Amino acid sequence: MADALDRDHEAMPASTQTFIETLISRMTLREKIGQLNQINASEPDAATLYADEVRCGGITAIINQVDRTVIDALQKVAVEESRLGIPLLVGRDVIHGFETIAPLPIGQASSWNPDLVEACAERAALDAGRSGVNWTFAPMVDICRDPRWGRVAECLGEDPYLAGQLGAAMVRGFQGQDVSDPGRIAACAKHFVGYGASEGGRDYNTTNIPENELRNIFLPPFKACLDAGVASIMTSFGDFDGVPATGNEYLLDQILRQEWGFDGVVVSDWDAIHQLCVHGITETDCDAAEMSARAGVDVDMVSRSYSDHLETLIESGKVSLEQVDGMVARILGLKVALGLFNDPYRRVGEETTSSRNRGLDLVKQAAIESVVLLKNDERQLPLTTSKLNSLAVIGPMADAPMDQLGTWVFDADVSRSITPLRALRDRAGDNVKIRHVEALDTTRSRDTRAFGDAVAAAAASDAVLLFLGEEAILSGEAHCRADISLPGAQEDLVRAVRAAGKPLIGIIMAGRPLTLEPVLDDLDAVLYAWHPGSMAGPALADLIFGDAVPSAKLPVTFPKMVGQIPIYYNQKNTGRPATDESVCLIDDIAVGAEQTSFGMTAFHLDAGHKPLFPFGFGLSYTNFEYSDLNLSRDVIGRQDCLDISVSLTNSGQVDATEIVQLYIRDRVGSVTRPVRELKKFTRIKIAAGQSRTVKFQLTENDLAFTRRDRSFGAEPGRFDLWVGGDSASGLEAQFALREDVTT
Ligand code: NOJ
Repeated sequence: MADALDRDHEAMPASTQTFIETLISRMTLREKIGQLNQINASEPDAATLYADEVRCGGITAIINQVDRTVIDALQKVAVEESRLGIPLLVGRDVIHGFETIAPLPIGQASSWNPDLVEACAERAALDAGRSGVNWTFAPMVDICRDPRWGRVAECLGEDPYLAGQLGAAMVRGFQGQDVSDPGRIAACAKHFVGYGASEGGRDYNTTNIPENELRNIFLPPFKACLDAGVASIMTSFGDFDGVPATGNEYLLDQILRQEWGFDGVVVSDWDAIHQLCVHGITETDCDAAEMSARAGVDVDMVSRSYSDHLETLIESGKVSLEQVDGMVARILGLKVALGLFNDPYRRVGEETTSSRNRGLDLVKQAAIESVVLLKNDERQLPLTTSKLNSLAVIGPMADAPMDQLGTWVFDADVSRSITPLRALRDRAGDNVKIRHVEALDTTRSRDTRAFGDAVAAAAASDAVLLFLGEEAILSGEAHCRADISLPGAQEDLVRAVRAAGKPLIGIIMAGRPLTLEPVLDDLDAVLYAWHPGSMAGPALADLIFGDAVPSAKLPVTFPKMVGQIPIYYNQKNTGRPATDESVCLIDDIAVGAEQTSFGMTAFHLDAGHKPLFPFGFGLSYTNFEYSDLNLSRDVIGRQDCLDISVSLTNSGQVDATEIVQLYIRDRVGSVTRPVRELKKFTRIKIAAGQSRTVKFQLTENDLAFTRRDRSFGAEPGRFDLWVGGDSASGLEAQFALREDVTT
């Protein structure tokens, strides 16, 4: 029976630490172990199913329950009927929205707009909080260089700096200034670390990450989330150097706790403690629990290895009580931070119509800023309604309210989805006749029987909008593809409709970069929309008709074909870097030519050395011209600040936003350095015909990396610097960092 005095946390001592220590001193071992046990409580009758266990203090957190009544009922048992009244954490994957859905994370990353990303996370937190959720498992800041991997949809791109900036923005959005505000929820940066390097783009696969790559590519976005105050970290399903991340002391203890001083909660991924046995690193669940606990995993997500075995492990001295107390303290610390001891139910007011509309406006803006214009021959876009009598709207993604949302949308209210077809009808009005032909039931369909109708609609119309891509279910966790071309008969559909001879605009919705080369020539213009979310339709209609101007830039490299993967912009130079001159394609080889490697460089005979579209690429309806790149000095010392300015002119007819990117190359290092590294970026809006000066600053810290001796810092020497609109172009300058220079 509960002791009312023990539950009276109103009398919480001034110091959180004292409160936690006092609470721990009152806990039985079983209660402590209960604080490490997260269960899946997705059943509708979870309140009945788990009441006894909660009452005994056997559960610290639930996951996958969003029915407020069920959550409140369990919370009530926890705070009123358990001996110590410790409230529950309520976890859910709130990845890019709750009922109202923002673009996929990879879409949001295309905005390069931390403020917008933060606002989307803030909105998602508010909506999820209304359901009783207080802990999300986002942001995912895994660096991914393989678009076959389904979870590329959920990542923030291939670049450590961009992913770090945007991951930190998400953390701020979820958690706010004070995570105890009921409209905020605890964030969780995942998956620590290296999950995105799953071999062959197959989910859950093993990884091969050299220490140098770990430190310079995979870890920095996590560090950025830590610096933003992220409350928790989730382990990766993968292994690192032969030791699965969920039992990896080097990653979780040495790097995360000792080097970085992280004192928040570490949670395993789903069942990942048990899976240490499946990996073949432990024999039994008991061994797995020992390995994870010793490595530093505080919360066991659903495998019950801790609740089943920690008691024995403590009794046998394999895991120390001090260690368990530390784990419990971190979890209680999170519960205190969330304000759960004072307000376990954290009520957020009902959603009003105006608040819902504000949410929809926000995700529409996010969708507008996430759509990348990849091609626009002869300025086919934007369309002008006054010059159009009719429009053919064709393809399986034109009117797919669920699929436009993308992966990870368990709680989406699909009735909020406005599809492109609906939005275009609204926008075009009575003067433009819209002919709609789905042509393919799904993006996977190979049934071409409706192609005749599609071609007829195209032939009868002034222009064709072709909505193609991947259904939501073709990307996301466990949904990897070996062939990342447009699925089903969509390529054939492009060719069939092309034959109608009308301006052909492709709008691609997908959870990953697709290999578009086979259809690129047939499309006059391409808008790459990812899965844009609830307001896909209105956002795309605005872009198509020029009420909005595309500004997004690719956060990942687009390969021409699967065989180029991995292909990413911040590659190493190698000893034989490819150049336009050195590349020789398969047809250039003389028949009977003798084997030679003389003058040969790093490229494929059948693909060359360039991607289809480079990282950072994206067109606008205007032209931006860069000029007058100026560096305040050409030699700096360690204490100096380098001021960089560039002039940017909008030489077109419309006001537009450019994402200006600054890259460097460290010419010689104690370890080989990337040919380019993104160091700064900014979004700048410039009126048609106007110019503005864009300024950046670099300090020694921006030049720093993990060196051969594993220390972190900059190395003196020469640097190249570029400022431009993508990773493959830009104005170039040089500077040097010198040890002997002081200001
Ligand atoms: C497994 C996924 O890898 C992880 O990202 C997610 O948060 C958990 N499942 C919980 O659903």
